[in-house]
Amino acid sequence: MDTLAKHFEEKINNEVTIEAKDWLPDNYRKTLIRQISQHAHSEIVGMLPEGNWITRAPSLRRKAVLLAKVQDEAGHGLYLYSAAETLGISRDEMMDQLHTGKAKYSSIFNYPTISWADMGAIGWLVDGAAIMNQVPLCRTSYGPYARAMVRVCKEESFHQRQGFEIMLTLSNGSEVQRKMAQDALNRWWWPSIMMFGPPDDNSPHTAQSVRWRIKRFTNDELRQKFVDIGVEQAKILGLEVPDKDLKWNEERGHYDFGVINWDEFWNVVKGNGPCNKQRVETRKKAWDEGKWVRDAATAYAEKRKARAAESTMKAA
Ligand code: 3HC
Repeated sequence: MDTLAKHFEEKINNEVTIEAKDWLPDNYRKTLIRQISQHAHSEIVGMLPEGNWITRAPSLRRKAVLLAKVQDEAGHGLYLYSAAETLGISRDEMMDQLHTGKAKYSSIFNYPTISWADMGAIGWLVDGAAIMNQVPLCRTSYGPYARAMVRVCKEESFHQRQGFEIMLTLSNGSEVQRKMAQDALNRWWWPSIMMFGPPDDNSPHTAQSVRWRIKRFTNDELRQKFVDIGVEQAKILGLEVPDKDLKWNEERGHYDFGVINWDEFWNVVKGNGPCNKQRVETRKKAWDEGKWVRDAATAYAEKRKARAAESTMKAA
């Protein structure tokens, strides 16, 4: 092993964060670009199913909170795109990968949001799953990613609570509202536990990512933690988790749960979920229609730069 690679390994083993200026093995860089850019794409595609409900939120308070939440997701996308850029990929390249289907984004955002209760279920379950995955990422080995995750996680915790509070209000409301909440749980439970990715024995990247301390837990470990907590939270809501095989296992100290429909997961990941085409089309349209804003911002930045250079020259 050459000196640079040895130094890198030592840093990883001693929990010293890797920084953008450091030497990195090519595959470490590629893995991070793949994961961080997919994560960033998930944040901005994730704005779509919820943005769909801003104008239909049932009160001004709900509208303001949902609007703030969707704006937070845009901010998360920006921190993450910036973290990925430190690894030598441009924003335009990442966008192109999203628009051409080369880069993935989370499977969960390819499901439709058909009732207000879905805003509750997404906040509670989807943001809940995101936190489960992302709190350990605050200790991921690449510094710019880890630091971005600290702020993201603070905001995601608020999102999870706003979702749970919607579910609590609905499940303590009228019979129709309780049914809406149960229906949302029925539709979002399984896709949420799929979010953690394929099982460990079918996950091509997990073992190496854990060795590099990019991932702190495996997909199955995080999924199990999420199920254990989610089932208890559903009890507080008085709702039933849609899994007839769910059972507390005294020996393991965990809930056993039913078989996940991995065919459905891969079908969605490959672009054939209920909303994949619509989501990518909407993102492309937003990118095309935002071109004039990017052009204007670039022209303004260039002009300022030229003016600053001119005044430096004059001063000299
Ligand atoms: N949706 C879509 N694709 C998925 C997926 C999912 N839920 N889970 C796994 N995959 C893809 C992987 O990207 C990989 O494809 P690739 O080789 O083309 O990149 C393939 O399936 C095999 O999966 P692996 O488990 O081997 O891949 P990873 O080691 O990258 O693990 C991961 C997948 C757990 C999602 C990991 O990438 C990760 O932790 N990412 C960061 C967190 C993230 O992206 N979260 C998105 C959640 S949504 C969100 O944060 C928005 C918030 O507002 C709710």
